[in-house]
Amino acid sequence: MKPFDYTGKIALITGASSGIGLTFAEHLAARGVSLILVARSQAKLEALADRLTKKHRITTMIIIQDLGEPDACKKIVAKLKEATLSPDLLINNAGFATYGVFDEIPLIRQKEEIYINCIVPIELTHALLPAMLKRGNGAVINVASTAGMQPDPYMAIYGATKAFLLAFSEALWAENRQRGVRVLALCPGATETAFFDVVNAKEASVGKRMSANAVVIIALNALDKNRNYIISGCNNWLLGQLQRFVTRRRLLIIAEKMLRPNTHSNKGLKL
Ligand SMILES: NC(=O)c1ccc[n+]([C@@H]2O[C@H](COP(=O)([O-])OP(=O)(O)OC[C@H]3O[C@@H](n4cnc5c(N)ncnc54)[C@H](OP(=O)(O)O)[C@@H]3O)[C@@H](O)[C@H]2O)c1
Repeated sequence: MKPFDYTGKIALITGASSGIGLTFAEHLAARGVSLILVARSQAKLEALADRLTKKHRITTMIIIQDLGEPDACKKIVAKLKEATLSPDLLINNAGFATYGVFDEIPLIRQKEEIYINCIVPIELTHALLPAMLKRGNGAVINVASTAGMQPDPYMAIYGATKAFLLAFSEALWAENRQRGVRVLALCPGATETAFFDVVNAKEASVGKRMSANAVVIIALNALDKNRNYIISGCNNWLLGQLQRFVTRRRLLIIAEKMLRPNTHSNKGLKL
């Protein structure tokens, strides 16, 4: 398998203002890729675009967009059309998690989580994949999570969105593997970003956190090999193998214990 060829390529990255998305932007800029950076934080995107343009002499465009808006993707696609830009690389990275007992988390927030973590990647992929296929070249990286490898008590919706993204990405990998477009599901474990500030619960973080830099290097190596999915790091990979050795019921009980809120009064559940 030939490494992915970045020559003359344009990448669109959602959630580029921070963490893993920002780190993808830095690595792709260093490879000479032109960037379209999407997020809500205008000042952060402007500063990033400015820094990368000067450092790597690349072209950047920023799109300030709340992806939770129902017509967010239509607006992004319209802006690309207006600028006659057709991304070769789409990185569906924007996402967030809610944490707590399902029935106590506002439904509207959980629906937004499904929308941003699942519907936005579907809409952007549906809009941008045909041009990549026409060129017989391109890639989609969907940032899923190790949280998508088993159900996650207290992060029920988050885990389900990432399981969806993993299944969706792998199906597209198989559909497109003979058509010149690579599709990779990136499954990071706990990573040192602002993600856990948004989750606002340290119990949601399992294991030692990796740097976003290490995660992105692993992802780009996996893209070079046209992997269908990649889990970042050996420890995360090992944790993902647990499901092979225990029943689904036992796995759920273990996951419930690992993710249980410190304040939770339900002490009746034992391993
Ligand atoms: N950190 C981890 O431990 C970890 C582990 C596994 C998977 N992941 C996944 O990695 C991806 C990136 O997360 P991260 O860790 O880099 O967290 P992060 O630092 O919080 O970055 C999240 C990015 O998503 C953007 N975003 C969130 N809501 C948005 C909205 N409504 N509209 C537009 N952009 C929005 C944010 O930009 P603005 O706030 O500027 O809009 C930000 O750029 C997520 O999909 C996450 O689920 C993270």
